Amino acid sequence: MSTIKPTFIGPVRQALTMENLPLKGALKDEQLEIIQEAGILIQNGKILKIGSFEDLLPEAQSIGAEMVQLNEDFVALPGFIDCHTHICFGGSRAQDYALRNAGKSYLEIARSGGGIWNTVTKTRQATQEELAKLTIHRSNRMIQEGITTVEIKSGYGLSVAEELKMLRAIKLANESTQADLIPTCLAAHIPPKDFQGSQKDYLKTIVEEVFPILKEESLAKRIDAFIEDTAFSTEDIQLYFQKAKAMGFDITVHADQFHTGGSQVAVEFGAISADHLEASGNKEIEILAASDTIAVALPGASMGLGVPFTPARKLLDAGASLAIASDWNPGSAPMGDLLMQASVLGTYEKLSNAEVLAGITCRAAAALDLQDRGQLKPGMLADIILFPSADYREITYQQGRLKPAMVFKRGVEIE
Ligand code: NIG
Ligand code: FE
Repeated sequence: MSTIKPTFIGPVRQALTMENLPLKGALKDEQLEIIQEAGILIQNGKILKIGSFEDLLPEAQSIGAEMVQLNEDFVALPGFIDCHTHICFGGSRAQDYALRNAGKSYLEIARSGGGIWNTVTKTRQATQEELAKLTIHRSNRMIQEGITTVEIKSGYGLSVAEELKMLRAIKLANESTQADLIPTCLAAHIPPKDFQGSQKDYLKTIVEEVFPILKEESLAKRIDAFIEDTAFSTEDIQLYFQKAKAMGFDITVHADQFHTGGSQVAVEFGAISADHLEASGNKEIEILAASDTIAVALPGASMGLGVPFTPARKLLDAGASLAIASDWNPGSAPMGDLLMQASVLGTYEKLSNAEVLAGITCRAAAALDLQDRGQLKPGMLADIILFPSADYREITYQQGRLKPAMVFKRGVEIE
């Protein structure tokens, strides 16, 4: 199938467009726009039209569209978007996982020199090409599962050269994967042990020596920081985010994972998203709900660490926007199965199908400031997934076991 020749897919029993949903607040399944017996006409990698299969068929034929005739039951959705991952890394932290299950906490392991620093060591040992290969391998697995856009953070380099190596590896990987990889600079992940100087000096070095290169080489448009006891304080991060903002970067924050404080900083800086929020209480929920910052729940980190989930229900009921991401990383979230995690979050937090699915489509697109995806409507990228079912509710009901039978990226079917 070529991207040049138009394509017509259908008939699809139910096409969930994810259109016309508010960005913020609770959602009911009745709000989902579902086109029954749908046809999707694709041209040049974008959706030209979506509507009744029968109504669109003559037009599809008149423009010579290639038919993807569906003879079984399928539900169509926009390609999933994982808006928070760390899949560019070397090594494994199976040892940390065993230690945690034996009673040590994530923060204790971090304080004793393991945790993220262990991955930094392994990532530094890998070449740029090796990191690109590992990233391609992981994102290829994700696209098979319907994730057509993957955000990826640096943050295991923690020096000027090593952070740039990671971001160049992600750029390289993006050139040879079918998924779109969206890079984020997380040089402020933890203070590097081997930096000669204070935490503020380290951040200053990153601002002066990494930020300009991010622009020059188009390596990232987004800046992230981990605000936590074992990482950076709300005070340390001020100048870093001020500079990032002044240079026009989007800001996102690892916030309130174990202690509060990060979400407030996120809102103060007009961050596009505040991610984690497992420790957020009513005050933080209110602050987020009153802002335009999107709350991102990372159920894979709760499952990887065995800690409570982000208060997703409370956030939505308070009026916040909620996206859901896998946080796939070797430490806190080694599983990397977005749909399974989003479905299970829905079970524990009592989320509607609409809330779960919006969290990994349209609301995740907003968390990455991507206006061209996350919904099935004319003009959007033809990133489309087809689940083998006649009822969309089967998707969360099967808690990740039901996988897409077909995945299209920019109109091209993934083999
Ligand atoms: O999102 N919390 C900080 N950073 C990552 C974990 C990274 C790691 O443990 O390697 C997270 O959970
Ligand atoms: Fe993370």
